[in-house]
Amino acid sequence: MPQARFAALWQSLAPIGQDSRTGGYLRYAFTEADAACREWFAEEAADRELTLDADGNGNLFAWWGAETGGDAVLCGSHFDSVPHGGGYDGPLGIVSALLAVDVLRERGFRPVRPIGIAVFAEEEGSRFGVACLGSRLLTGAIDTARALSLVDANGVSVATALAGLPPATDDDPAPAGPDPDRLGRLAAFVELHIEQGRALVDLDAPVGVASAIWPHGRWRLDFVGEANHAGTTRMADRHDPMLAFAHTVIAASEEARAAAAHATIGRVSVEPNATNAIAGRVTAWLDARAAEQSTVDSLVSAVHERAKARAAIDGVTVGLTAESVSGETAFDAGLRDRLAAALGGVPVLPTGAGHDAGVLSAAGVPTAMLFVRNPTGISHAPAEYATDADCAAGVLALATVLETLAGGAAP
Ligand code: GLV
Ligand code: MN
Ligand code: MN
Repeated sequence: MPQARFAALWQSLAPIGQDSRTGGYLRYAFTEADAACREWFAEEAADRELTLDADGNGNLFAWWGAETGGDAVLCGSHFDSVPHGGGYDGPLGIVSALLAVDVLRERGFRPVRPIGIAVFAEEEGSRFGVACLGSRLLTGAIDTARALSLVDANGVSVATALAGLPPATDDDPAPAGPDPDRLGRLAAFVELHIEQGRALVDLDAPVGVASAIWPHGRWRLDFVGEANHAGTTRMADRHDPMLAFAHTVIAASEEARAAAAHATIGRVSVEPNATNAIAGRVTAWLDARAAEQSTVDSLVSAVHERAKARAAIDGVTVGLTAESVSGETAFDAGLRDRLAAALGGVPVLPTGAGHDAGVLSAAGVPTAMLFVRNPTGISHAPAEYATDADCAAGVLALATVLETLAGGAAP
């Protein structure tokens, strides 16, 4: 796979949803930018005579070979981004999958089992708050009614956003919710993804295979106090939720460091958000992750306790609500070893990042991931990057994996 071929297809997608000020991407699920990415995908699939297919959950699929029994091999990833995120997280898995199909065809490979490319919806949860929403709906990992009633910052619900999607095929749209028939047709799912760390740099390897995803989740913290005048309210009379919020940010960092875990408060919303008014309400989101579920659980409760302790001092309240929770993923060991061997003994590594692959794995689909080296290790930021040479190596690795799984012996 010449690097130039990767670069050409990559560049045809790259401008969509890119913010000219930050260079990051604003590709939120079911928005104009997302629709343009989906249109791009539909055209690329048509150029390759792949059959486009959509479920009722906003997920798209393109098939090489008829999707019949329980033997299909699915790859792919997602288009949606975090606010001002990098362009590789997600799209690299889709672009690489399209190019891997080209590579296999040029080799004269004829799949014994159908090969599919998936585009999963709202993986980042940047619009509706729940990560991997499309794959969770597909697998039944989220209650359908709850998912459909989630709203974005403008009050638009998932149900409304799904209803507004242009039809991807001539078929009648399927209802939202679990689709066990579709899942039952899958023998394996392999998601190629940019690495979101520097392990492959340290190991001097362009491509690796995933072993596990840390358990992780998002919790909303609602600090409620009393809005009042910044100039006339005596310090002793204030019920300022900003103080408990600020203490909680520090507490989360301290507790995570002490537990060898990760905790982040990277999003906050303040009401009324005025320079000359004491805040009445602060809403913040805690992202917590660790190698063990018990560590995540104790970390979140320690942060909550410290938030409550400070809130009591200021006479404010604090509520904690789990919005999106993912248990540990241990990828299928047989598949992992088979892929690592097929790729010549590439490194096997765990990750703290969440993926649709984790959701499919939890639903019982034998699942694996390939990681492509990221020279800076930066992700969820405009500096996220992989070289064309490593991306081309990723395409070849994915082609080898698809050849292994969709050719000869059963996955
Ligand atoms: C998604 O990339 C996540 O790890 O939150
Ligand atoms: Mn991501
Ligand atoms: Mn991703």
